[in-house]
Amino acid sequence: MRMYDLIMKKRGGGCHTEDEIRFIVDGFTNGRIPDYQMSAWLMAVYYMGMTNEETVALTLAMADSGDKLNLDKIEGVKVDKHSTGGVGDKTTFIVGPILASLGVPIAKMSGRGLGHTGGTIDKLESIEGFNVAISQEEFIDNVNNIKMSLVSQTGNLAPADKKIYALRDVTATVDSLPLIASSIMSKKIAAGADVIVLDVKCGSGAFMKNIDDASALAKAMVDIGELAGRKTYGVITDMNEPLGCKVGNALELEEAIDTLMIKDVNRDDIPKGIKRLLEVSLTLATYMTMGAGICDDKNKARRLCEEAIESGNALKKLAEFVQAQGGNKECIFNTKKLPKAKYVVPVTFDKAGYIVSCNTSEVGMASLILGGGRATKDSEINLAVGIDIRKHIGDKVEENEIFAYIHGDDEKLIEEAKIRLTGAYIIEKNKKEPEKIIKDIVIK
Ligand code: URA
Repeated sequence: MRMYDLIMKKRGGGCHTEDEIRFIVDGFTNGRIPDYQMSAWLMAVYYMGMTNEETVALTLAMADSGDKLNLDKIEGVKVDKHSTGGVGDKTTFIVGPILASLGVPIAKMSGRGLGHTGGTIDKLESIEGFNVAISQEEFIDNVNNIKMSLVSQTGNLAPADKKIYALRDVTATVDSLPLIASSIMSKKIAAGADVIVLDVKCGSGAFMKNIDDASALAKAMVDIGELAGRKTYGVITDMNEPLGCKVGNALELEEAIDTLMIKDVNRDDIPKGIKRLLEVSLTLATYMTMGAGICDDKNKARRLCEEAIESGNALKKLAEFVQAQGGNKECIFNTKKLPKAKYVVPVTFDKAGYIVSCNTSEVGMASLILGGGRATKDSEINLAVGIDIRKHIGDKVEENEIFAYIHGDDEKLIEEAKIRLTGAYIIEKNKKEPEKIIKDIVIK
């Protein structure tokens, strides 16, 4: 087999065999296929696409390229959740403890963030003493004993994806549906869960800007998961404004903790941002509960998840998990102990009207400017900084009324972030309702 012929085949709209895909993935991972040929092939895939069978073969070849997490020593059905990425997404800290408190093992590998905020691992490091790099034995023991552990992704999980992603990043081939679907699913499959619930974000802060693209991505990933023998659910959720109110590492953790403290999740006076965060979290948790075989009935599964919050059991589980990984559990019961920024500065609009739209990525950029995210993979992250948004799409704002607070350590950066943040919103005379938070569910 020659890479030249395979590039020609894909360029002409041909369909690869499983062997051909393995040849490409293995050859590129071990250095036999050079970057320039792989780049040409990726661009051919970008334009010509891939069939379902090709996408599955690519996923499995990448999943097989390195270590696989062996979760056999963990008792019960292992359930994982993955978000395609958005702004203010802190659902892992809500969903994980809910499921663990219901007895479902959560054995999760997560990454650090690149871009507007940190990843799950960075956010957890806001907790004094928390260790994200425990040994595999300790990880398995913690899941068996307290049902939840979360560690930093090891270097050798799906190394083919790591190498291909780095090339996609510099060859304008990231936003290709089969490449995104196979990249995400290869890591999920290598991470070993039996059931995968995917939170596919859709809107101005997501990879997929519209419902057609988000549905196609969700369907492709659900197909891959099912063909790989994993029960997979796709939940398409709105990302046309940040999820919840808070964006930033410690701030997001704090908001997740506040959400787990709610005593009645169906109360009408829960603030709008928290309501949307609760809805996404409870929907994901409901499908995870069903996938784990705890309950077949959707309404009953949802009620179980609601009760896990209302009883305080999920919050207690979060504290137990934090303590088991060396973290100070006092931070969970008293969020004043989380890192705090030097300044908290109110932000206003200079005109009155209704918020009709938000460029969510720009809100993320405002947080990055403050130091809350990484501009490059070696940047230091500031865990304390971020944004607390008090008004959302559909809300009325008066001239000079406070709509958000910026938490920052540097006055110059705060001014820069303020401009970016206010520029992200459009205010008009006529009210516009926000998009539905749960847009669709994809199940095979
Ligand atoms: N996240 C991934 O892991 N891979 C992609 O290609 C896109 C988002």
